[in-house]
Amino acid sequence: MGILYCSKENIFHLQTPNTSYVLGVLDGKHLLHLYYGKRIDEYTSILDNFPIAGELAFSPIDVPEHFMSTNMLPMEYPCYGSADFRTPAFHAEYEDGSSVTCFEYESYEIIKGKKKLEGLPATYVENDSEAETLEITLCDRLTGVKVVLSYTVFNQVDAITKSVRVQNDGNGIVTLKSVLSSTIHLFDKNYEFVHLEGAWAKERSIQKRPLLNGCMQIDSKRVTSSHHHSPFLALARPYATETQGDVYGFSFVYSGNHLEQVEVNEFDTARVNVGINPFGFSWQLTPGDKFQAPEVILTYSDCGFGNMSRTFHKLYRTRLVRGKYRDEKRPVLINNWEATYFNFNEEKILKIAEKAQSVGIDLMVLDDGWFGKRNDDNCSLGDWVVDKNKLPDGIESLATKVNDLGMKFGLWFEPEMISEDSDLYRAHPDWCIHVEGRNRTPARQQLMLDLTREEIRDYIVDAVCSVLKSAPISYVKWDMNRNATELGTKSLPPQRQQEFAHRYVLGIYEVMERITSAFPDVLFEGCSGGGGRFDAGMLYYYPQYWTSDNTDGVERLSIQHGTSMVMPASTMGAHISAIPNHQVGRTTPLTFRGHVAMAGQFGYELDLNTLSDEEIEIVKEQVKLYKDIRDIVQRGELYRLASPFEGNNTSWEYVHEDRVVLTYYTIRARSTTGKTNVKLCGLDETAKYTETTSGKTYSGSYLMNVGLYFEDKKDYSSTMLIFQKQ
Ligand code: DGJ
Repeated sequence: MGILYCSKENIFHLQTPNTSYVLGVLDGKHLLHLYYGKRIDEYTSILDNFPIAGELAFSPIDVPEHFMSTNMLPMEYPCYGSADFRTPAFHAEYEDGSSVTCFEYESYEIIKGKKKLEGLPATYVENDSEAETLEITLCDRLTGVKVVLSYTVFNQVDAITKSVRVQNDGNGIVTLKSVLSSTIHLFDKNYEFVHLEGAWAKERSIQKRPLLNGCMQIDSKRVTSSHHHSPFLALARPYATETQGDVYGFSFVYSGNHLEQVEVNEFDTARVNVGINPFGFSWQLTPGDKFQAPEVILTYSDCGFGNMSRTFHKLYRTRLVRGKYRDEKRPVLINNWEATYFNFNEEKILKIAEKAQSVGIDLMVLDDGWFGKRNDDNCSLGDWVVDKNKLPDGIESLATKVNDLGMKFGLWFEPEMISEDSDLYRAHPDWCIHVEGRNRTPARQQLMLDLTREEIRDYIVDAVCSVLKSAPISYVKWDMNRNATELGTKSLPPQRQQEFAHRYVLGIYEVMERITSAFPDVLFEGCSGGGGRFDAGMLYYYPQYWTSDNTDGVERLSIQHGTSMVMPASTMGAHISAIPNHQVGRTTPLTFRGHVAMAGQFGYELDLNTLSDEEIEIVKEQVKLYKDIRDIVQRGELYRLASPFEGNNTSWEYVHEDRVVLTYYTIRARSTTGKTNVKLCGLDETAKYTETTSGKTYSGSYLMNVGLYFEDKKDYSSTMLIFQKQ
């Protein structure tokens, strides 16, 4: 396991417990991607038999030693300028106006552990013995530009991380036009392109389409990763299911403009590219400068999507999320947003908190509307000063009163924004992202602060930190409710304006790093109009994320199912809200809503005082139950047994140590059908499992092969079973 190098053949073999990734250097020059898939042991002869696609006709010969063309070769880090006409990973412009690059292999180094990525989120090790890293340097001899390709192999996880650093070791200015983080090749095109598409309140629906010749891609040009396309791609055999078939997963640890692309060429081979979207991107490197491209996580599963997701979950839960809340139990919270919207005062919030405390809820979160004169969403973003009309004694007094009830207190911020109607805008009308002379297009009546400017980043850090210092605040919900338009900044000269989008992302990463490290005991939850920007980059700073503003139980089944393709349950904020649901108007039972929300990071988003005594008893039981199972849900292995995208039922199973939680949901009752069979997964075949309510005991092999039967007798009904291994 780890990284093997065969000097005779110039082959690098990266081995995880179950996968292999093989690179070779042809003629000491051309770095080729030779294999990625199920673990192999034989690798040295692979270059004798390396995959050359197609006929030479019309392919320029830039590998004369073999009378061959790079257009036919699986280039590991393809650059633009010579014979490879597919989409390059690297494209740059040089001082003479040319944009020809010719990377040749220069050297390699294998190191223990994993280096940090300067200014960027990334997976990490706690001990150097957990992983090995290979760094391969390629050089463009004419210009002196180098790229350092970095690959980390974890001992315990079937994931390979890739990132790229560009160094200008030449004498001229280099303008980078594209620096993707990963390219790999698959040697046939019989795959489906699987991705997560969405919008506000309908995040991450699973989309699948067959690969065809030409380019297929998803991306973002919104400066955030967005609701619309998660920075994730899977390539799966058409027959792949949750439990079988080859699946390659690519998750980009980045929160800005991204690109996930597959190009099938005339020879029917597939190039898979992932990285910062080259659209609207360029970056100037003066001599001696470096540019670090973000990290991509690759995983291969020979047994379907479920295994792919569990690999991402394990890695993200344990080696991407950081800080105290990575391992600590997360609180059950109640948030006042859907209970009051902007219409609250101290008394109302305390009333909600008192009731919440009486049912065992740990944390009261005060959402939008506590600052400036924000009685609706037209104003005050940027003015992080308490509104004394609503909270006459301030945040400290409210937080202390909530603490006195025996609960923690949390607060909402949207620090990246500025309202035109705000003291901040009146004082600094040029602090928003804008281009002089052009319209400043509002969205939700707000503009975005220019985080490429240091003084503005300092303002945000100071404003948020001074509120956090002023009161016993244990939790922050960090919201972000628009995408960027009219990109421009006075922090950069004209020839560097295209650096804006990436510099914005670096700016928000710096702000989050400064604030989270100043308040290590505060639990941060990310949010962007629900689950926009719910990406792996954000999880490095914020261990949980508000999955969607859509809190309807039925809609949430699809949203949470799609989100779980990459994100672990411990990161997915999921709350019970009132009925009829505020987003879709649907009425579903409290138990059903509870079973859906308990499949994530559990909480409430309503005024419990409006519930009947009978409902309050159910709520008490829910909170108690969740506290009992939260370790299983949050740390367990997830098996998706039935998909809301495929039928009337959804079923999820979490296995953690010797306990199992199984959920089963029915949308519509059905009259003529019998019971629905659900087979469990991931159990010990020979062990006995007792279902804790009925006391019935089953063998693991029974549960996995015969399975259990559920009735679909009622609309919006659900069951949760807990099993204890004997
Ligand atoms: C959007 C968030 O997703 C909601 O949960 C809520 O915090 C509102 N913003 C507040 O404006």
